Amino acid sequence: MRILITGGAGFIGSHLADHFLAAGHEVAVLDNLVSGKLENLAGARVMFFQVDIRDKAAVMAAFEQFKPEVVSHHAAQMSVKGSTDNPTYDAQCNVLGLINVLEAAVAVKARKVIFASSGGTVYGDSPIIPSPEDAPLLPMSPYGITKMVGEHYLGYFHQAFGLDYTVFRYGNVYGPRQDPHGEAGVVAIFAKKLMRGEAPIIHWDGEQRKDYVHVKDVARANVLALTGGSGHAFNIGSGVATSVNELFAGLELQLQTGIMPHYGPKREGDVRLSYLSVDKIADRLGWRPQVGLADGMVDTVAYFRQQVAREVTTG
Ligand SMILES: NC(=O)c1ccc[n+]([C@@H]2O[C@H](COP(=O)([O-])OP(=O)(O)OC[C@H]3O[C@@H](n4cnc5c(N)ncnc54)[C@H](O)[C@@H]3O)[C@@H](O)[C@H]2O)c1
Repeated sequence: MRILITGGAGFIGSHLADHFLAAGHEVAVLDNLVSGKLENLAGARVMFFQVDIRDKAAVMAAFEQFKPEVVSHHAAQMSVKGSTDNPTYDAQCNVLGLINVLEAAVAVKARKVIFASSGGTVYGDSPIIPSPEDAPLLPMSPYGITKMVGEHYLGYFHQAFGLDYTVFRYGNVYGPRQDPHGEAGVVAIFAKKLMRGEAPIIHWDGEQRKDYVHVKDVARANVLALTGGSGHAFNIGSGVATSVNELFAGLELQLQTGIMPHYGPKREGDVRLSYLSVDKIADRLGWRPQVGLADGMVDTVAYFRQQVAREVTTG
């Protein structure tokens, strides 16, 4: 199968490239490298297009050249804070950019689009925990709003042009290659801080509990969506809620730095408990999370160890 991954030089997208290639598919990556890195694709045999999804003509040209059968849409403005700071840019990437991708997919007769939505934001502060896919969508940030709107556009393009789709609403994804400078990757942020001998800051009292899912589990779900899950939205999570204090303790158990965290103020909009029901995808596609947090931290820690060692040697 010919698969084009938008955002494929990023954290999740580059793991998808690895998994799709390992399953024998032909892969192209389209990315503007705003946060993605070519080194994430080192060793992966992919065609690369350095293109911004906001550039309609360039998106169309890349699609015409590669002619994907499936489009995995992972390029996005992916920060909640970024979206509140600059809702216009968020909508330009996450709504107008998505429309460019969908129009190009229709133009080259792609069969299907797989869309990265966000289970951590589209349900808002849901009263139904764990949140199933049919819980009300009540996003509280521009980012959550544009992800929800994106899902509706997929429904529209299916209805109007017959373009198949699967939506994945991810929990907090973690694993190797996550950007430790963003806000989302608390595992990456803590791991890198601890390895540099610095104390991480835990906001609030650290007892807020969320859903952390390893990127390998995310990639397995995406491989299943190449042939299944048509017209559905699925949560992708661990099915359990983990506190920030537990995350810190898990990392510290591996790293044994003896560093204690600092506690800071609650972040605006943070919720006490949020996690996702994963029953629907288990029933329909037989997907279940396989990587527990303790195991999942092993490759994550190994990756950041290498990164920190490289920083030390390169100064
Ligand atoms: N990481 C998570 O926990 C999480 C949770 C829910 C949803 N998601 C979604 O998954 C997707 C991938 O996220 P990630 O964590 O891998 O982040 P990431 O920043 O590593 O990946 C995003 C990629 O998109 C590229 N990109 C951004 N804007 C672009 C544009 N205008 N044109 C072309 N490329 C652009 C970036 O360079 C990057 O390579 C995003 O859509 C994000 O919203 C992530």
